[in-house]
Amino acid sequence: MNLIILGPPGAGKGTQAKRLQDRYGIAQISTGDMLRAEVAAGSAIGREAKAVMEAGQLVSDAILIRMLRARIERPDAAKGFILDGFPRTVPQAEALDGMLGEKGEKLDAVIQLKVDDAALVDRIAGRYTCAKCGAGYHDRYQRPRVAGVCDACGATEFIRRADDNRETVTARLAAYHRQTAPILPHYAAQGVLRVVDGMADIDGVTRQIELALEATPA
Ligand code: AP5
Repeated sequence: MNLIILGPPGAGKGTQAKRLQDRYGIAQISTGDMLRAEVAAGSAIGREAKAVMEAGQLVSDAILIRMLRARIERPDAAKGFILDGFPRTVPQAEALDGMLGEKGEKLDAVIQLKVDDAALVDRIAGRYTCAKCGAGYHDRYQRPRVAGVCDACGATEFIRRADDNRETVTARLAAYHRQTAPILPHYAAQGVLRVVDGMADIDGVTRQIELALEATPA
């Protein structure tokens, strides 16, 4: 199964994509995580991407398309994938169509998470992740079962992202509306767009996605 999860910054793409990965045995591919790994490694891509990401802008299509093409060839994506953060522009969407066409594959569904802009800042400001395994949490909406201890791996160190501040969120939101929202009609025309109410709580959003996928022809 090949899926895309799409929505503005903080909509819950990563949270839901991790659940879909476990539920359907497909690879979660987060281009944001891939870029952050490049930044942490100090690679040429990371050096180019760092300032762009911290300003809340989009990294170039050429870099992202090259990265994605290599990533979907890896063995863990053989049974399918859920793309979290890609495509983000019309050229990226068209490049993905080409890659799938070359492999004789198709997209099964594009899940759009709809969330009010006002709620996004609140979600992003409260977000943190486990420094060891990357499990995601929120100060109010998704706390660890034992305060200060990661549910998934038991680590006690947590981190917050460099681009999770009020100014950058505003720029990221503007980039979403200007460059990413225009790809929605592309997928509506292909008949694969499934719109989900991302304002529901985390379990409620998961249920809506599962229902939408059950109604999707195999
Ligand atoms: P990326 O890492 O993709 O960031 P983003 O799109 O801004 O999305 P986020 O990761 O911030 O949010 P999310 O929707 O995953 O929400 P989450 O589940 O964490 O990209 C970062 C940067 O990399 C971009 O700005 C760009 O520069 C660059 N980049 C990446 N891909 C690119 C591309 N293809 N082209 C060009 N540049 C690219 O949830 C947020 C919080 O809310 C969490 O704490 C969670 O616990 C909580 N939460 C989740 N769901 C709910 C809910 N239903 N109710 C209450 N709380 C919730």
